[in-house]
Amino acid sequence: MKLMVMVAHPNLETSRANAALVKELQRREAADIRLLYREYPDWKIDVEREQRLLLAYDRIVFQFPWYWYSCPALLKKWMEDVLTFGWAYGPEGKALKGKEFMAAITSGGTFNCYQAGGENWFTISEFLKPIQRTFTKCNGVFLPPYVLYNANRASEEELLEQSRRYAEHILSPAPLLVH
Ligand SMILES: Cc1cc2nc3c(=O)[nH]c(=O)nc-3n(C[C@H](O)[C@H](O)[C@H](O)COP(=O)(O)O)c2cc1C
Repeated sequence: MKLMVMVAHPNLETSRANAALVKELQRREAADIRLLYREYPDWKIDVEREQRLLLAYDRIVFQFPWYWYSCPALLKKWMEDVLTFGWAYGPEGKALKGKEFMAAITSGGTFNCYQAGGENWFTISEFLKPIQRTFTKCNGVFLPPYVLYNANRASEEELLEQSRRYAEHILSPAPLLVH
């Protein structure tokens, strides 16, 4: 399986959680890792290049810190620019048919914050619905997300353990993730 991990963190230099996840993937040489904010510091996304790259992978993981119950703005812009009518969706838009997409999120909030009755009321899966539908509308398969909760308070050991679990999750075949 050809795996791309698109990391969308506006400031990876100050990151603990996303940096730990990236480090583990680099150690395993498990995926082609891309750093969206470094590739496009001017926010001018090369749509043809991005579409070409998408075609070269079986699974695309979007890894990002959870910002205001969604993804950071440049990743949203990436979706708006790259997922074009007639290519990604619409009657002729079948380029992404069958590709697997996944979100990998680090959140400041705890697991309990993201439950009914908790501080945020809804689960991360519920908040992810617009992104889920974006990729299923583009004929992709949207796999269960990986979520690292309580990211800012996690110890180095916890981050390491989470990084290992993260790598296992994103490398798992779809039938093991969806059951
Ligand atoms: C602009 C901004 C918005 C944020 N919004 C949320 C949020 O809606 N929910 C949440 O749980 N954490 C939120 N956070 C916390 C981040 O998700 C958290 O700091 C990040 O996942 C830590 O990862 P890092 O060490 O890789 O930066 C927000 C942080 C920032 C800077």
